[in-house]
Amino acid sequence: MIELAVNIKSGDLSYPIYINNNNIEELKSEVFRQISGKKYLVVISEKVNRLYGKILGFNSERVFVLKDGEKEKNFKNYRKILERALKMQLTRKDAIIAVGGGVVGDLAGFAASTYMRGIDFIQIPTTLLACVDSSVGGKTGIDTSFGKNLVGSFYQPKVVLINTNFLKTLDERQLKTGLGEVVKYAFIEKSCKCEDFNLTNFLNENFEKIFERDTKTLNELIKICLSLKTSVVEKDEKEGGLRRILNFGHTYGHAVEKITNYKKYTHGEAVVEGMRFAFGLAVKKGLIDKNYQFYAEDVFKKYRFMPIPSFNTDKMIQTMKLDKKASSGSINFVLPVDYSTVDIFHFTEQELAEFCGKAL
Ligand code: GLY
Repeated sequence: MIELAVNIKSGDLSYPIYINNNNIEELKSEVFRQISGKKYLVVISEKVNRLYGKILGFNSERVFVLKDGEKEKNFKNYRKILERALKMQLTRKDAIIAVGGGVVGDLAGFAASTYMRGIDFIQIPTTLLACVDSSVGGKTGIDTSFGKNLVGSFYQPKVVLINTNFLKTLDERQLKTGLGEVVKYAFIEKSCKCEDFNLTNFLNENFEKIFERDTKTLNELIKICLSLKTSVVEKDEKEGGLRRILNFGHTYGHAVEKITNYKKYTHGEAVVEGMRFAFGLAVKKGLIDKNYQFYAEDVFKKYRFMPIPSFNTDKMIQTMKLDKKASSGSINFVLPVDYSTVDIFHFTEQELAEFCGKAL
């Protein structure tokens, strides 16, 4: 078993992350150990419930099954979860457990953070994306018709329990959406201020094993990504500065998702397209040379991400302006400035339109 710790200094709080590939029964015992003496509400993805509900063996009266898809991360389901917790008479001493991908974790975490002003929250991520990114760091929230994650909170889980056996039943597209975030970490890793790892080499050397879902390789991959993420989050929990680098590819990526109604592209596909856009912008701005952009394109193709057709420039800019990463009068981008190194840049609407021409 791999154990990592997240130590948020500003909030004087820390929690463990356990990564292993034990059988699911052992995971179940660990969960029950964590919630011993507490009442609990489990929010679980429909697919995960179908495949693992029996083995996990939660009391069905304490389970809220959430349909799969980004569209479910909405006010209606947030309210339903809170009402269910109220009906069950959960108290401040009790817990909400998320079992699923990023949608389940974000939604259940937001409910946990606001129920009675905050109750214990346990993350059991079952997709690669949730394992390498969304289950750690405390971002919770829901989407609105104005944009993604516009309502939410920073609320750290009590523990994150990762079991890579869940990844065996992920479909290829779900695996790839997680790989979109993994590739992101490779392009920002030097800026994460965590010296111990070399994700770029790991991705070059283990490409086949990753796609074969070799559990040992996936455990190591998750450990590297989470070590990078933890290093950033510990220094800047609330995204006042350094944490913004984790949004590499996300300004444009979120707009792609929004413009296509969260249906056409997965989050990872949209983020990779956002990174492509960022590389293009960085070349036009003279921050990097074309060789680095070609190298990045090779990485995207190796990890089977094909380019997404372009969108109307004005529409994209208007959508990016609504993103919560935008600040008064400017749209913020994380751009590459050197190999595996990024920085934050601000553009006015006009500057962005000029940089883009009509070729967004
Ligand atoms: N997924 C980006 C972050 O957690 O900050």
